[in-house]
Amino acid sequence: MSDELASKLIGNGENPRHIAIIMDGNGRWAQKRMMPRIMGHHAGVKAVRKIVEFCAKQNIEVLSLFAFSSENWRRPKDEVNLLMELFMSTLQSQVDKLHKNNIRLRIIGDKAAFPEKLQAKIRAAEQQTANNTGLTLVIAANYGGRWDIAQAVQKIVAGIRAGEIEEQAISEQLISQYVVTADLAEPDLFIRTGGEERVSNFLLWQLAYTEFFFTDMLWPDFDQKMMQKAIDSFKSRQRRFGHTSEQIVDKRIL
Ligand code: IPE
Ligand code: IPE
Ligand code: MG
Repeated sequence: MSDELASKLIGNGENPRHIAIIMDGNGRWAQKRMMPRIMGHHAGVKAVRKIVEFCAKQNIEVLSLFAFSSENWRRPKDEVNLLMELFMSTLQSQVDKLHKNNIRLRIIGDKAAFPEKLQAKIRAAEQQTANNTGLTLVIAANYGGRWDIAQAVQKIVAGIRAGEIEEQAISEQLISQYVVTADLAEPDLFIRTGGEERVSNFLLWQLAYTEFFFTDMLWPDFDQKMMQKAIDSFKSRQRRFGHTSEQIVDKRIL
């Protein structure tokens, strides 16, 4: 079996290397309890801590969490402001703990839109944890899959103008080198909580062959048990990448 195919056959009984999650349903969780939506976001942070711990223990390589989309600016100003504050305070209170647990933190998204104070905190947190060798925790903030592709195109065009990239060299592989997760394995498993079954502009380029798992459970209720259920579902699937089922079975025997 070629190494390339072997590495792609993750699934088929193996644990996912990279899990990407759309953490949806915080607002409804709070509303069901007659609480303001922000309380749902606070409860959501607690769920994040539990799931990060779980993934670190299970030796998952990468966990990507969608925290704030490029479309979420459309929400009421109060909610956006409170979300920014929560992001800032969570970053502040959790970075040392992540560092102690050998977790490498990475924030992806158009960070230029954030207040300079928050941008500085992000840079410091990424630097502090940059050499950690355990779980890579990717937080998508002001992230959009289309933005990611557009920024890759901008960089490639700049490279062509500078004479560093040949126009003929533009390929799927080249574009993959310029999206913001270029150095990470592509997601094997995508999970969305909260009942909606859509991608909402998350990692569009990277999700081309990812396995999807949807649950009605609202994000603040999401726990290790449901995470295990998603992983078990993933492990039970046959990933074919265009091959026939027989080819996959044969190649695993070889
Ligand atoms: C997801 O929960 C968190 C963010 C988008 C920040 P929502 O806030 O979208 O919760 P619902 O979908 O309104 O319940
Ligand atoms: C997607 O959730 C973004 C995040 C979880 C951060 P939304 O709740 O914003 O998605 P839509 O608008 O319902 O598609
Ligand atoms: Mg939502």
